[in-house]
Amino acid sequence: MPRIALLPGDGIGVEVTAEARKVLECGAALDGLALDLVEWPHGAQRYLDTGQTITPAEMAELERDYDAILLGALGDPRVPGNEHARDILLGLRFRLDLYINLRPVKLVDSRFSPLKDVRAEDVDMVIFRENTEGVYVGLGGRFKQGTPDELAIEEDVNTRKGVERIVRAAFAYARERGRTRVTLADKANAMRHAGGLYRRVFAEVAAEYGDVASDAMYVDAMAMDMVLHPARYDVIVASNLFGDILSDLAAALVGGLGIAPSANLHPGKPGMFEPVHGSAPDIAGQDRANPLAAILTAALMLEQLGYAHAAARIETAVRDSIRAGQTTPDLGGSLGTAAVGDWICRELSQGR
Ligand code: NAD
Ligand code: IPM
Ligand code: MN
Repeated sequence: MPRIALLPGDGIGVEVTAEARKVLECGAALDGLALDLVEWPHGAQRYLDTGQTITPAEMAELERDYDAILLGALGDPRVPGNEHARDILLGLRFRLDLYINLRPVKLVDSRFSPLKDVRAEDVDMVIFRENTEGVYVGLGGRFKQGTPDELAIEEDVNTRKGVERIVRAAFAYARERGRTRVTLADKANAMRHAGGLYRRVFAEVAAEYGDVASDAMYVDAMAMDMVLHPARYDVIVASNLFGDILSDLAAALVGGLGIAPSANLHPGKPGMFEPVHGSAPDIAGQDRANPLAAILTAALMLEQLGYAHAAARIETAVRDSIRAGQTTPDLGGSLGTAAVGDWICRELSQGR
């Protein structure tokens, strides 16, 4: 039986993970699939109470004893330095070496895009965000803090191994899924060293994939072009920071963060699955958070665990809820967070 650690975390992370759990339980049961779901209390409250974020032993336990981790969101205004989120969220990505941050972005219906004259089939892209290096590694430091001469250094670390494995993952995925193009987003005109490495590795790997078209773009131009010509984009590969920024932009094209799922992967290791959005303190506790991103994330997890059928059914039910307007206010509906989860379970049980 797959063993899954649930880390709801903070703010709306708790609310949307409860709905993801509900849908996992009702969806899996319909498929005759039993899941061992274990809740972990890690988040801001526990950090404030105990001073603990997550220990190396707990990390090791997650890696050893679980098949997957489903996380809600981490971030709390009472922890302005975000220490716990860095330790837990970035900690899991780094410690488990989950180098692929896979973020699929698909438009269900043109009504939900802020773009005009866009068809649903025009926006269907998958972002491969490098997830273990770049400016996220925390190498650097401060000097003369609080003085007019203050200095802050945040190093951008890119290794041949790190770049090559994310680029390879993007091309392999494209071939496997019959996708036709991989686009690299970088800033090789200004960041010569990192950009040069990405461009060289990208060209080398692209040459092995004659059946997949490829091109490289500067990330600023690409951000603009994704809005103007979203249909041009299929699989996108980018460094940690550029992938982070592009994934929020891409989510906005299809209805917002409320429906954007993600998976943190390293083949052969337990994956960590989380919605792209954060803990949204502005709407936490109001039963207004859209749980669909978390529910789609749970489906992505089932798919990765080898339960493609159960995953596809959940995705279909989510699409149905969006089309039927059975959603939270961010998508124009009038349901609360929990009512959306209930609606999806009802839809699943009716076998539509
Ligand atoms: P956010 O994603 O939490 O919210 C951005 C905006 O989108 C807010 O207006 C919010 O109300 C809205 N939104 C987000 N998710 C929504 C949902 N499911 N339904 C409806 N509306 C939704 O980003 P932020 O405000 O920049 O960050 C808040 C906190 O979350 C910060 O502490 C940040 O560091 C953290 N964060 C955590 C993660 C994570 O755990 N994976 C991701 C992003 C941000
Ligand atoms: C995300 C988030 C995180 C990131 C933050 C909370 C550190 O924005 O998962 O996209 O930048 O990776
Ligand atoms: Mn982000």
